[in-house]
Amino acid sequence: MNVLFVAAEVSPFSKVGGLGDVIGALPSALVKKGVTVKIITPAYGAIDRTKFIFQETARTFEIEIGGIPTKCSLLKWNPPEQPDLEIYLIDNDEFYSCKGIYTDKRGNSYINNPERFVLLQKCALKLIAELNWIPDIIHCHDNHAALIPVYLKTVCAEMPIYKSIKTVLTIHNIAYQSVTSFDKKYVFGLPSYLFAPTEPMEWYDQINPLKAGIIFADAVTTVSKTHALEITTNATIGAGMKGVLVSRKKPIIGILNGVDYSMWNPVSDPEIAINYSLENLAGRRKDKQVLILGTDLKDYIIEKPLIGIVSRLVEQKGVDLILEGIDRMMAMDIGLILLGSGEEKYHNAFKNVAERFPGRVSVNFGYNNPMCHKILAGADIFLMPSRYEPCGITQMLALKYGAVPVVHKTGGLADTIQQWNGQTGNGFLFDGYSVDSLLASLGNALGIFRNKSEWKTLMMNGMAEDFSWDKSADEYLKVYEDILKT
Ligand code: ADP
Ligand code: GLC
Repeated sequence: MNVLFVAAEVSPFSKVGGLGDVIGALPSALVKKGVTVKIITPAYGAIDRTKFIFQETARTFEIEIGGIPTKCSLLKWNPPEQPDLEIYLIDNDEFYSCKGIYTDKRGNSYINNPERFVLLQKCALKLIAELNWIPDIIHCHDNHAALIPVYLKTVCAEMPIYKSIKTVLTIHNIAYQSVTSFDKKYVFGLPSYLFAPTEPMEWYDQINPLKAGIIFADAVTTVSKTHALEITTNATIGAGMKGVLVSRKKPIIGILNGVDYSMWNPVSDPEIAINYSLENLAGRRKDKQVLILGTDLKDYIIEKPLIGIVSRLVEQKGVDLILEGIDRMMAMDIGLILLGSGEEKYHNAFKNVAERFPGRVSVNFGYNNPMCHKILAGADIFLMPSRYEPCGITQMLALKYGAVPVVHKTGGLADTIQQWNGQTGNGFLFDGYSVDSLLASLGNALGIFRNKSEWKTLMMNGMAEDFSWDKSADEYLKVYEDILKT
């Protein structure tokens, strides 16, 4: 089976969040099952071209965006450990040379994002013709690739090369829909009738590519079973798309993300000071000490429960709850370390928290992969109070590193964390999105933390969990096979 992945992020080249992790790992799990996978993504200016030496393919495309021809050249990368997997990167100075993936340094979306992602999608279709390689499936990820099913069933419908292709649209984050004003209609190169009131591209007098993708895709999936249920039953979590999702003839399929344990494993992780394992946890205390030493936390925090947070700093992640409950949380005699980047208002609020609790709170802004590994290995508790969470990868990483998750019971968090009951379970869940519920759950965790042997059993339960990609890859294969039968 041939599958083309189209995505805005691919780890290790480009990653803002879990989307990058997924596209960096799922294709390789599919290749191991005999699928031929190619990926197409932009070659952003932020990619370190000294670290990754891409092959020049000598292929150049001319793509029309809003009637204006745009030249792109195609770079290629084959992962050394899996040379069968081909990653194509689109080089184009005008649209991709910027340092951010979606936003500038201040967190504002680039105004030409519609053009940038239409270019990605048109290049994906062009790649098929150029290589004369017809995928059975195009697997489109998020709003940035949601228009491919629309192009295939409208402007490309009569072109023989595209006729047999089926599409899967995976929604990683339904709140991001790429909604744009009608002034940008000319950018999409789609027939006018699609933009008329109530038609697929129209959304309250604006343009909504995700909505159109949901309507046209052969299968729509999201990244956990609970979230699939939530977006089709809860108007808030569905972010306005509930009706559109429900009106599809076929159900929305929930497939949990996996973890790439070749990169995220305390046994072999080169980013942490001392490696450790389920059988030998001794190194973990040292990792906590090294983490503390490397930050502005005071030495005595080694004896206190240390709470870790690694997150995009946006409303989705429950940042407001943490800020609202911070005084009561700090009264629980804890240390807190945060790594995150996102909205300026949250950066400022956390800076203020760090000033109020010197030596006990360390806040670190920016995207810092090595530090993320160190926090997972050094924190005792991993806090993820997300308002909603389609899947969440970080809590699964935390489990593997023995940082016990305290999470809000929603989406993928509800599907991966089981409440500790004294014998079974791998973490703590709070139901009901409120500061009181969060603090009660954290208080419960801290009570158990004092009982070292109980805590060790709980940690080990988490470390023994297996969320490898193999199972999820089988579930995607089943989706591909099912739509190929239709
Ligand atoms: P989301 O995709 O909503 O951000 P996930 O939990 O699915 O949430 O994935 C987040 C990924 O990004 C994880 O791999 C996490 O470790 C990583 N991450 C998030 N923020 C940072 C940061 N500031 N520095 C380094 N890694 C980060
Ligand atoms: C999104 C979601 C997150 C999910 C990730 C990868 O960014 O917020 O829950 O894990 O995509 O699917």
